[in-house]
Order: sequence, then C-alpha cells, then structure tokens
Amino acid sequence: MADLLGDMRRTHHCNQLGAEDAGTQVVLMGWVQRRRDHGGVIFVDLRDREGITQVVFNPEMEPVVHAKAHGLRSEYVIGVCGRVDPRPKGMINPNLATGAVEVTVTELRIFNTAETPPFMIEEDVEVTEVLRLKHRHLDLRRPNLQKNIILRHKTGAAVRQYLNGNGFLDIETPVLTRSTPEGARDYLVPSRVNPGQFYALPQSPQLFKQLLMVSGFERYYQIVRCFRDEDLRADRQPEFTQIDMEMSFVGEEDIMALCEGLMTFVFEEVLGVALIPQPFARLTYAEAMDRYGLDKPDTRFGLELVEVSDIVKDSGFKVFADVTKKGGIVKALNAKGCIDFSRKEIDDLTQFVAVYKAKGLAWIKVRDNEWQSPIAKFFTDDEKARLAERIDMQPGDLVFFMADQPAIANEALGQLRNHLGRQLNLIDREAFHFLWITHFPMFAWDETEKRYEALHHPFTAPLEADYGLLESDPAAVRSRAYDMVLNGFEVGGGSIRIHDMDLQSRIFKLMGMDEATYQDKFGFLLDALKSGAPPHGGLAFGLDRLVMLLCRESSLRDVIAFPKTQKASCLLTGAPSEATKPQLDELSIRVKAEARL
Ligand code: AMO
Ligand code: AMP
Repeated sequence: MADLLGDMRRTHHCNQLGAEDAGTQVVLMGWVQRRRDHGGVIFVDLRDREGITQVVFNPEMEPVVHAKAHGLRSEYVIGVCGRVDPRPKGMINPNLATGAVEVTVTELRIFNTAETPPFMIEEDVEVTEVLRLKHRHLDLRRPNLQKNIILRHKTGAAVRQYLNGNGFLDIETPVLTRSTPEGARDYLVPSRVNPGQFYALPQSPQLFKQLLMVSGFERYYQIVRCFRDEDLRADRQPEFTQIDMEMSFVGEEDIMALCEGLMTFVFEEVLGVALIPQPFARLTYAEAMDRYGLDKPDTRFGLELVEVSDIVKDSGFKVFADVTKKGGIVKALNAKGCIDFSRKEIDDLTQFVAVYKAKGLAWIKVRDNEWQSPIAKFFTDDEKARLAERIDMQPGDLVFFMADQPAIANEALGQLRNHLGRQLNLIDREAFHFLWITHFPMFAWDETEKRYEALHHPFTAPLEADYGLLESDPAAVRSRAYDMVLNGFEVGGGSIRIHDMDLQSRIFKLMGMDEATYQDKFGFLLDALKSGAPPHGGLAFGLDRLVMLLCRESSLRDVIAFPKTQKASCLLTGAPSEATKPQLDELSIRVKAEARL
C-alpha cells in the first residue's frame, strides 16, 4: 500500500543541495533513478524535474527505514526526509550538481510503485524511437527531454516578454476556419450541423492577422498552432507552432529590425548568448542560389558554388555543351584539399546527388602539374586556364561539376555542399549564423497545374519596380518576401502584404483564378481591402524549429512533448483512429470500403 503524502512537503529540488547545506534537515521528492544495494548501505539516485541527489539508507542508524528501502525499484515515487551530509573524500561526483553531498534518510514514504519501465530512463539508451514514442510519458522523464521542454517554455516566455514590451497584442484566431493557402494540403473537419460541409484547420492565421490590421490593432502576435497535411521530414510536423506577427504602417526594414531584436533578446534570455554582428547578414534570393544553390544556405562554412557555364559552353565535353545550349547551367564546387577521396567515396557522392535528380557528377583532381579526371581531356588549354582561375583550383583540390537545368543543378550541388560541410567537419557546431534572404521570386511555375503559384502566399506584395512585368513576364517578378535562415534552416518567413484591392485581384488573376473563384474563396479579404486597409506586413517564426536549433537537436520530435511520426500518427494515443458508424452517420460521411484496409 502506498504511503500518503500527509504533511510531508518538499523543501528543495534535487539540483539544489551543496556542501554549504551540510547539517540541514531537508525533504526531497521524486523518482528512483537507480538503487545500489551493497548488502549494507543502500544508495538511491533520487530524480526530480531539476536534477539528481544521492540519498542514503544506513542499516545501523535507521534499521526500519533501511529495511523499507529494500523494496525500492526503478521509477518508484518517493519522499524522503533526512540530513544533508558531505560525501566522504573520494566519493565526490564532480559531474553532478549535488555531487558534493548526500542525504542520510530518517523517513521514507513510498507514494507509488512502478512497473519495470520498457526502457531505462537515461540518455543514450539503445531503444527504438517507436518504443519511446509509444511510452512518451516515460520518455519525457529523460533529463535531456525535460531540459528541451523547459527551454521551449523559456523561449515562449521570452518571446511574449519582448513582443508585449513592443506594443504587440496577443489576439486569438479561429481553429475551425476556411482554407488558407500556404501551399500544403488542408486538414478538414466535417460540420455536423451543415451536412456535407467542412472546416479547414488553419495552415497559418495569415488572413485573420491581415484582417486584424484592417480592424486597426496595429501590432498583433500569437503563439499559435498551425496544421499542414504534407509529407513529413525531420524538420516538419503536421501540427506545429508559429510565433505569428503582423504590423501596420511598416516596411521591410522595420519588420526585420524588430525580428532581429526579438532573436537577440531570446538568445540572450534563453542561452545567455549575445548575437553579433547586427544587423544580420543579408542575401538576395538570386545571390543565395548563385553562391549556395539553396534559399536557406548554411553560412557557417565556405565551399561556395561557382558557375562556369560561359567557360564550358563550347567545350568538347558534350554533356556540358548540350546542357548549356538547352538553357541549363554548369556549376562547380571546389572541395579544397580532398584529392585523396577514393573512387568509392566519389561514387557515393554521385549516388547522393542522384537523390536530387542529378544525372551525374563530374570531377577533377588537381595534381601538382596535371589534372586527373575522366573529363580533363575534353578541355582546351585556354578553357583549363580559365576554369582554374575561376574555381581557384590549387594542387590538392577535388572539384565537382554538375550540368543541369538550374533548379536541379542548384539543389543537388547545394545539398552536396551541406553534406561535405558535415563530412569534412567544416561546421562550427557552437555557432549561430543568422541570415535574411530577400527579393524572392513572386511566382513559381506549377508544372502539374500549368499555372503560376505564389511562392510565399498570394497576399505578398510584388516589388514596385517589377509591377510592369506582372503580365508580360511573371517569372521575373520579385516579391517583398523575406525569410530568416539560421544554420541552414528556414526559421521564419514573411512579407509586406498587398493592401490594395485592385492589385490583389490582379495577382489572383495571374495565378489563373477567375473572378468567381477568388470572390468565393477570398471575397471577405477583398471587401476588407476596400474598407480602408493600412499598409502592413509581418512574419511567422517556426517555434519548433527555433527551439530545435536552440537545443542543438536535429529532430523536431525532440522539442515537442507529444510529436507525431513520419506517418502523422501519435503512437501514444493511437491517433488517427477509425470513427464509429453512429459518429459517421451523424456527420453524413461514408468511408470507402477499400480505405479501411
Ligand atoms: P511559412 O509557411 O513560411 O509562412 O511558415 C512560417 C514558418 O513556420 C515554420 N514551418 C514549419 N515548422 C514545422 N513543421 C512544418 N510543417 C512547418 N511549416 C512551416 C517554418 C517557416 O519559416 N503566414 C506565413 C507567414 C507570414 O507571411 O507572415 C507563413 O505561414 O520555420
Ligand atoms: P559519361 O560520359 O556519361 O560516362 O560521364 C562522364 C562523367 O561525367 C561521369 O563522371 C558522370 O558522372 C559525369 N556526368 C554525366 N552527366 C553529368 C551532368 N549532367 N553533370 C555533371 N556531370 C555529369
């Protein structure tokens, strides 16, 4: 039978006691991390949210309590009353905050027993993530996850403190709503009272925050859950949290300055790290693609890409000549000093880029006075000299080349760059490199739908200088969108919005929507824009991604208390699950027989 809490009350957490507390009577409460019984004295590592303290049961001093301690097992929940004693010399544990002391127990209460856990509540235990997620309540007891969840709390608190102090109002927006076009699939919720009709869960509060600007709230924020039914990756969850913001009477500079201030405050509060330099570095989208191949470059290391299309376009290497004639590009990546890569290593890298649809990976090893390469023979001396200069080819270098349409060549080489950065240990893991990417293209061509799509979202304003190109050359129009990138991850994105009804209608038309369609979908926004909409803009940070980077983790699942798997399921609760026939009937829904298989 479990003991009652009774009048026992905790005096300290398990991280608090040190040599200066020797002689004090204390009460600690928590879980049995480990029990060591050497026949005489019993040692228990007692764990709570804050840390671990060693408690000791002595058979000579407290025979009754000691006898009771024999029954303790891992994860039992106990309270102990006792005296803080300095540990004998040689027994001090410098790796533990409380390693200088132990508590000699005079009273033990067992609040609850526990079944043997399916895995040890310790770091670095060899268990599958499936098992951990199924028993997430136990997994969450691990000190590392506790630390991450506490850090997440601190991040949210710092964000609120900063934004509250800068005139922002926290305003809630609906979860049962209409589709918002952030480019992913919607989660739909059937309406019982409107049979056959559905709400969409918001992919973001985008339209509501714009309406709040029209309503005159001037500065809005919300730490808000967003839902996107998209293919999942380590940095994507189907439900995730945004720090969502919108401001009136501002331009890009105002929003960027505010966001830099926010990040600086958060990093200082949460990690005690000062972010310098400020302002954050900036690259246009075009520069980022040119130098790094990706719109979220990791700038913690070099290995920049270099375009060489102009040098090789008439060369004897048919692959390069053909690709450039068909509108493609040839780019190089100089893996400095990597001349000793084996054929196998190069083949592995060729396989790596194939995942990004690259058709091949040509290479040149620069020996002291010759190039060793299957393709060197195709170039004239003049071409060789120009390549060597452009790519800074020095003896000892291994240079990779890729010829393809720009989208593929950039993506594949950009990913190869990140891969080599990790493989060659070029990345300073302690560093935080913030970067703004600006001047994104306004539209992206959707090959399946055969029409232009908004690259950010359709409420993003085009750059005024490019208005003239809207109808004549949509692909060349740049937008007023900006992303904040941290260590190669897009941590936030936003834009200055369209606040003019005519321009908004024009953009909808350019995206292939006829008036009836956009009136039906976004009529309420167009009405609002007609009713005195201020110039406005904003940004949303991905809180989960930000916390993942603050915690130096590589998966969002390590910073979300109850995350979902790659298949968007929750292994703890078993969601999603089938609905009963009466539930479905009430919603006027029939599930296809084959969907149940
Ligand atoms: P965007 O779609 O760029 O912009 O989203 C903003 C930020 O949210 C994070 N994010 C995600 N994090 C985890 N899992 C996901 N599936 C996921 N999708 C996005 C990213 C991203 O930078 N309404 C606009 C913002 C605006 O224009 O103000 C929006 O939602 O870190
Ligand atoms: P091949 O003539 O097809 O045997 O190719 C010779 C070398 O060029 C091989 O190392 C291929 O990996 C490489 N290669 C083939 N296609 C491309 C391409 N599109 N871009 C870069 N290298 C390529």
